[in-house]
Amino acid sequence: MADTYQTLIMPGSLINGQWHKSEQTFSVKNKTNSEIIATLSNAKPEDMETAVEQATAAFAQWRNTTGAERSRLLMAWYNKLMEHREALATLLTLEQGKPLAEAKGEIDYGAGYVRWFAGEAERIYGDICDGLHHGQSVNVIKKPVGVVGAITPWNFPNAMIARKAAAALAAGCTFVGRPASETPLSALAMAKLAQEAGIPDGVLNIVTGTDARKLGKVLTQSPQVAKFSFTGSTRVGQQLIQDCASTVKRVSMELGGNAPFIVFDDADIEAAVDGAMLAKFRNAGQTCVCANRFLVHRQCHDAFVSALAEKMRTLSVGDGLDAADMGPLISTQAANNVHELVSQAIAEGATCDYSRKWDNSAFYPPTLLTGVNTSMRIFNEEIFGPVVTVTPFDEEQEAITLANQTKYGLAAYLYTQDYTRIRRVADQLDVGMVGINDAAISNPAAPFGGVKQSGFGREGSKYGLDDYLSLQYRCLGGY
Ligand code: SIN
Repeated sequence: MADTYQTLIMPGSLINGQWHKSEQTFSVKNKTNSEIIATLSNAKPEDMETAVEQATAAFAQWRNTTGAERSRLLMAWYNKLMEHREALATLLTLEQGKPLAEAKGEIDYGAGYVRWFAGEAERIYGDICDGLHHGQSVNVIKKPVGVVGAITPWNFPNAMIARKAAAALAAGCTFVGRPASETPLSALAMAKLAQEAGIPDGVLNIVTGTDARKLGKVLTQSPQVAKFSFTGSTRVGQQLIQDCASTVKRVSMELGGNAPFIVFDDADIEAAVDGAMLAKFRNAGQTCVCANRFLVHRQCHDAFVSALAEKMRTLSVGDGLDAADMGPLISTQAANNVHELVSQAIAEGATCDYSRKWDNSAFYPPTLLTGVNTSMRIFNEEIFGPVVTVTPFDEEQEAITLANQTKYGLAAYLYTQDYTRIRRVADQLDVGMVGINDAAISNPAAPFGGVKQSGFGREGSKYGLDDYLSLQYRCLGGY
């Protein structure tokens, strides 16, 4: 077969157009059966330093390319990604575990960012306005910040690197990314396709290795890295922000979430259940924007819970390549953590309305808990697993208070048919993104990001380039 996923498995880091080989290696496992799918060179901090140096050297040329040139190269990359869609999706399912249909969706989603930023590369505008007196002019120019360092997570091995790298390249920055060592293959495959698309050596570097802390420190502490972007947990993000302080870097953070999913008594219950299935079970509940807390009006509580349980019964769990609806969690440890949250909630009085037998593997069963209250750990923590928790409410204001009762502020969902309520409630939700009668909020055209301890900065949309550009104001006099 011309395009099997094996042809996209690279040996290790891509640094300045060279595939890095070393004696020290690490293996990447199939998350469904733990078989080794690839053995890669394990980059050391010195390799990361080399990548930063090469990205710095490449910046000297890349910054001078026109938006049209960068746009053309990004579109060529997009075309390569789409040409290899099936193979990229297979690789993604193997290394991450999500069902193939979802993996294909992620390839489209990630490539969508590349296409989006190919367009934005040609639309970097500045300002011109009057100065203090006749003959003086204020010119505001946008310039690429420089070398971008990025760390991306294992839950979206393709889309997360795409939305950072494509924005950086579109802005005229060069890029050094470190994907999670659980799922580095997608990023390396994308880098190979970028190379084939003609993106010059040194502009896009991917460094793969297991020593997250030391590799990350090179990116956060190097004075040559002008901007750092991270997607991952709030706890790790806090540490990385501190690490970036010594060189006063531009930083953007896409961190944890604890999204409320509010169902009002006037909601279309069928639509709410469909939205709940998507917002909860996409990637087996391992997304930052996952519905984490279902706040359901008491009048429609029972109808919603029984319709949702009915749908959950139909979910097949298994190998993503065999058309299962839901794959494994990223590890058995992750499933244990979810189980601990569930067990503790039940011990504290929650009721398990639906689950299946769990075999202590990474395949955690879809589970539905009702009677969850605000004092339970499961209400306050990101679950990152396929567990629905339901908390009833009586008044609109009570739902808003419950929704905002978290340190996170990434996404929220609300289902209601009352137009005035939509505006009233959305106005009061302290989050960066709101799904209103719709749970498919992820879209390259929209600004993805949060408030509070969910982070800062936006990815995608016309705002997505701002984090990669700095303003230079020129005061023009002379006549
Ligand atoms: C995330 O979970 O971090 C990203 C999810 C998305 O982009 O939809």
